[in-house]
Amino acid sequence: MEEASTKRKVTHTLTSGYSDHVRVPNVIVMVGLPARGKTYISKKLCRYLNWAGIKTRVFNVGEYRRKEENACDANHGANANFFSADNQDALRVREESARRAMEDLCEYLETSKGTVAILDATNTTKKRRKMVIDFCDEKGFRCFFIESVCDDPNIINANVTDVKVNSPDYKGVMSAEQAKDDFMKRIDNYKKQYEPLDMDNETYLSFIKVINAGRSFYVNRVNGHAQSRVIYYLMNIHLLPRVVYFTRHGESEYNAMGRMGGDSPLTPHGDAYAHALEQFFKGERVQDLRVWSSQKIRAVQTAKGLKGIAAHVEYWKALDELDAGICEGLTYADIENRYPKQTEDRKKDKYHYRFPSGESYEDVVARLEPVIMELERQGNVLVVSHQAVLRCILAYFTDRTMSEVPYIDVPLHTLIKLVPRAYSCHLTFYTFDVTRRVWTAREGSLNLCESPQSISPPNTPARTP
Ligand code: ADP
Ligand code: F6P
Ligand code: PEP
Repeated sequence: MEEASTKRKVTHTLTSGYSDHVRVPNVIVMVGLPARGKTYISKKLCRYLNWAGIKTRVFNVGEYRRKEENACDANHGANANFFSADNQDALRVREESARRAMEDLCEYLETSKGTVAILDATNTTKKRRKMVIDFCDEKGFRCFFIESVCDDPNIINANVTDVKVNSPDYKGVMSAEQAKDDFMKRIDNYKKQYEPLDMDNETYLSFIKVINAGRSFYVNRVNGHAQSRVIYYLMNIHLLPRVVYFTRHGESEYNAMGRMGGDSPLTPHGDAYAHALEQFFKGERVQDLRVWSSQKIRAVQTAKGLKGIAAHVEYWKALDELDAGICEGLTYADIENRYPKQTEDRKKDKYHYRFPSGESYEDVVARLEPVIMELERQGNVLVVSHQAVLRCILAYFTDRTMSEVPYIDVPLHTLIKLVPRAYSCHLTFYTFDVTRRVWTAREGSLNLCESPQSISPPNTPARTP
């Protein structure tokens, strides 16, 4: 396999993302019994890699099967017997679904639309994995297996109860209780045919085993940039419940004057917001809250009152606002007058546009990678940062494309609460009605929240500066 991939390396000249260091297309192959988090991992990994500039797509074999079923008005997925090893007819349908997924995955990688394809299926038998390996060899794709092994009944029970009973396989067909019962039988059927990746006899393969939701890992034969990034990422994520809050600093003097960047202090309005934030977190009593602020004065002043409430307050340079280079301290009107060509270029591709002697959104994403990794590792965190930086971070959590990132709406004096869910996350926007809000977003904004909650914390005196 190794040789075939190397031989064909030259045929793939991937030209996708600017920050894409991946030269050979990779197929990530999920392995594991049902309800082991394969879809969760696939989706999350896909979101991360795309955010980091590595074009990735998930190909879910269950969805291909359901497409087939819809075409002939069948619903095999609602019956555990369909997944029995003895059911030869069903096996043919499942193999055919896998083949179709692989054809599409191949088109995705060969036409350079993407760099990484994730094959989300059970792939629990050596025979099925051989089919995938042969296919990747033939095409010159690098193959990497992620096997999720889990024998913790509490985790499996929660996965089935919270997620699997809502699967499209059961929608409108049976009650949640019946679905749970059927899904447990499906797992038993898979158990009879399951051949885990063999740590003695399959050592020529590149793989990671994620054991009991990340309690331990086994890594073998890492091959290339994408694979090592994937492994690092998988080793940092966790499933414990937690909340992440985001806020921009309060209104700064430069905000009030419509000037970009700089390092000005808060206005009295900004100061009132900092105070309201302090009152809010006093009321919230978030356990072991960590506050991460940028090193800019306006952010430090916003976070100041939280020192007595949070378990930790840290100041990250990586959270400082996008550096507008020669445009720092100017208004948008100044920039248009002085640098019309720069204004035009930025409009054309705001994500990739880099200010002379400054940064682009793409640069900010690159410097935020350690912040994202640490956010994944931690529990409850409040991030106090800036418009452009928070757009980049929120884009990661909400799966936004590069072209959407610079337009995400992150208003001043608004606290954003993010709670991770099974395949996504839930956002609540709290707009504090104790202060004035100047608008710093210019072009058509991308709203992440349909109904913001207006908040007047009970103990907050509405200070009129
Ligand atoms: P599968 O695709 O294996 O059938 P899912 O991805 O649909 O399973 O299961 C979703 C659930 O798996 C989520 O609720 C998530 O909390 C959980 N999960 C995520 N990662 C893991 C893991 N490594 N091991 C076990 N469960 C996990
Ligand atoms: O105006 C506030 C601000 O945070 C500036 O400091 C920064 O340069 C700007 O927003 C980033 O927003 P945009 O990328 O839309 O210009
Ligand atoms: C499925 O059909 O839902 C599925 C995951 O298929 P397989 O087990 O064949 O990969």
